[in-house]
Amino acid sequence: MTSLLIRGGTIVRPTGDERADILMNEGIIGEIFVRTTGPQKLLAADQTIEANGQLLFPGFIDCHVHFREPGLEQKGTMETESQSAIAGGVTTVCEMPNTNPPTVSIAALREKVRIAEGISTCDIRFFFGVTQSENLQELRRLWTEQEYSSLRDRCCGVKLYIDHSTGNQKAAKGVVEEAFRVCAELKIPLVVHCEDPVLNARAAKLNMHTEIAAHSLIRAPESEQRAITSAIESAKETGAQLHIAHLSTKRGLELVGQAKKDGLPITCEVAPHHLFLSTEDYETLGTLGKINPPLRTPDHCEALWAGIESGTIDCVASDHAPHTFEEKQVMPALTAPSGVPGVETMIPLLLTVAAGRWPHPRRRSFQPKLMYADIRRLCFDRPNEIFALKRPMIESAAKANLALVEPEAEWEIHGADLHSKCGWTPYEGWKITGKATVVGGW
Ligand code: DOR
Ligand code: ZN
Repeated sequence: MTSLLIRGGTIVRPTGDERADILMNEGIIGEIFVRTTGPQKLLAADQTIEANGQLLFPGFIDCHVHFREPGLEQKGTMETESQSAIAGGVTTVCEMPNTNPPTVSIAALREKVRIAEGISTCDIRFFFGVTQSENLQELRRLWTEQEYSSLRDRCCGVKLYIDHSTGNQKAAKGVVEEAFRVCAELKIPLVVHCEDPVLNARAAKLNMHTEIAAHSLIRAPESEQRAITSAIESAKETGAQLHIAHLSTKRGLELVGQAKKDGLPITCEVAPHHLFLSTEDYETLGTLGKINPPLRTPDHCEALWAGIESGTIDCVASDHAPHTFEEKQVMPALTAPSGVPGVETMIPLLLTVAAGRWPHPRRRSFQPKLMYADIRRLCFDRPNEIFALKRPMIESAAKANLALVEPEAEWEIHGADLHSKCGWTPYEGWKITGKATVVGGW
């Protein structure tokens, strides 16, 4: 097939919707014929997609995923998790460093890039992890030496864990400040997992409960709040471009909002599980609902939706973190690994809200306001800018990399139908309105 015509779809653009016919040749967008009221140009191609009533987005970006390779292939591989991404309309992902070995050296990054080169369906970028001072020396070489320029192009930033999570990547004492300084100097986006190790350790020590809901008490909202306060302070001192990962609390959101008002280059993302699930879901999910940061009470979910509406939240990113079903069932409950899969369900869940529905089968709706243009901003434009990914827009001469959305398509989420190797989902049986299909290569 050499040419493809997408006829009559509506391109969702930041500047407004545009109904158009798009002609592509050999995977490149040729011309875009915007529909006017006048007579339509008759176009022909080897293949035609009739897209009346459908929406066109650039292939979506998920700027926070864990694809588990190398070393944790029982949970997922770049191949299986990329299939999951594509099936959910996502064609670009930014992958986290807590693999085995972790991505804390040029050699480890090179190995990941080598594996990713064998995957033609999805553009995988990688975060560089920093746990020790040596890692920052490697980072400096990666960023400044000519021989690494193509490797550097695949690296979207630095990821820093303030406390332990899966993979035990907590930055050593003193390294946090140094990481801020180096990232500021080299102008590298710095993504921080904000949970305070002292508060978490103290709460874990005092904890007497064994049930899974205690996870939300041990890693309490104050812990995130304290870590965000300190990260913002470090960003202010050093001038680093700070991005807060999976923001999950009301107060955290206020702190980011204030920092933005103060003119600091601070951005944040929120994960679908913090928008759609709450502590009330432990009852049905059990250990499947264990994540870091943990599920919060519904008032936090509501605040996060308000943060999307106000524009304080820059991105929605899945924090796709597959573990096998067996691993998640381990007892005692509080020792189960943290993390849920989500790269394939993120866009469908958001499309459902944009269609005016609420997908949670039990919990009351917050009736959040979300437009299709918001989904484009949250899952394409903002991550594309923040991490300088240079992913193509829908324009003439750009690579054809689109997500075609049927906004009224109704279906149900079932773990067995999803493509992640882990085979389960925290959204089992949820009713979805909206289906995204990828058109073109990346
Ligand atoms: O819940 C989580 N899972 N939070 C993290 O920080 C890591 C992730 C994982 O890799 O499993
Ligand atoms: Zn993560």
